[in-house]
Amino acid sequence: MKSLPISVGAGLRLPHLAEMVETVPSVGWLEIHPENFVANPHASELLTELSLHYAISVHTVGISIGSITGIDRVHLKRLRALVERIGAAAVSGHLAWSNYGAEFLNDLLPLPYNEESLRTVAAHLREVEDTLGRPYLIENPSSYLAFRSSTMSEAEFLNELVDRTGCRLLCDVSNVYLSAHNLGYDARNYLDRLPADAIDELHLGGFTVESGESNVDGELWIDTHDAPVADAAWELYAYALNRFGKKPTLIEWDSDLPRLERLLEEVRGAERILCAEQEPEYAGTR
Ligand SMILES: [Fe+2]
Repeated sequence: MKSLPISVGAGLRLPHLAEMVETVPSVGWLEIHPENFVANPHASELLTELSLHYAISVHTVGISIGSITGIDRVHLKRLRALVERIGAAAVSGHLAWSNYGAEFLNDLLPLPYNEESLRTVAAHLREVEDTLGRPYLIENPSSYLAFRSSTMSEAEFLNELVDRTGCRLLCDVSNVYLSAHNLGYDARNYLDRLPADAIDELHLGGFTVESGESNVDGELWIDTHDAPVADAAWELYAYALNRFGKKPTLIEWDSDLPRLERLLEEVRGAERILCAEQEPEYAGTR
C-alpha cells in the first residue's frame, strides 16, 4: 500500500484539474474529495492520469461516521472503488455526521463527546476500515459550539478512540486554531494533549471572521477554506511539527479559489516551515 510522502500537498479542486494535468507542477501530493469525481467521468479520467504522477489522498465528506442511524454504505462502496482505482496513498474523513436515516444534510455536523458517541464512532470506523481494507484517518472538526452532554474534551475523545480502535488521526491545525478561538481554549494545550504517535497527516486552510456573533469576543471564526493561512496558524503549524514530527501536510483552499499559481505559493510557504523544522527528538539540543 502506498503512503503519503512527508512533504506538502495541495487540495485539488475541479477548476484546477485541467491545468494540473497539462502542467504537472511540482507539488508533494494531492488531496481530492471523492464526491467531486464519482459521478463525473471526465474528471475521473483526468484524476487517473494525475495518479500516475502524484500520490493522492482521498478525503471524503460523505461517510457520516458519527451518525447514530449508521454510515452511508452505498457511498462507502463507491469510495472503495475510487480508492482502489487510483491506488490512493491515504483515506480520511471528519469526526462529524451528516446523515440522519435517508436524509443527507450538506454539512459536517458536530458530535457530543461522550461514551455513546464514542461507541458509535468506533463501531462505524471499524466497518469503514474493514470495507476499505486500510486505515481511515479521523480529522478533528472545526467547532462552533460545545454540547452540555459531553463528558470529555475533544482531545480526550480522540485519545480514547485511538486506544479502542488503533485508528490513525489527521490533525487539522487550522481547525484547532479557530476552534480554540470559538470555544475559548488554548490551541497549543490541545495539540499537547493529542496522541502524537497516532498523527499521520496535517491540514492547513484559511477561515472567515464573522462579526457580531455571540462568542467570547463577538467574533465567530468560520472554517471556509476561502483565504490564505493566517499568520498565527502558521506559527501553530510549526508548533505542531515540533510536537508530532514532520508529517505530510495539506493546503486546503476550497472556495474563492485562487489561480493555481497562488495556491502553489501557499504550498511553498508550508514547505519552508516543514523543511526548517527539526524532528522533536533533537528539540532539546537547540
Ligand atoms: Fe481539514
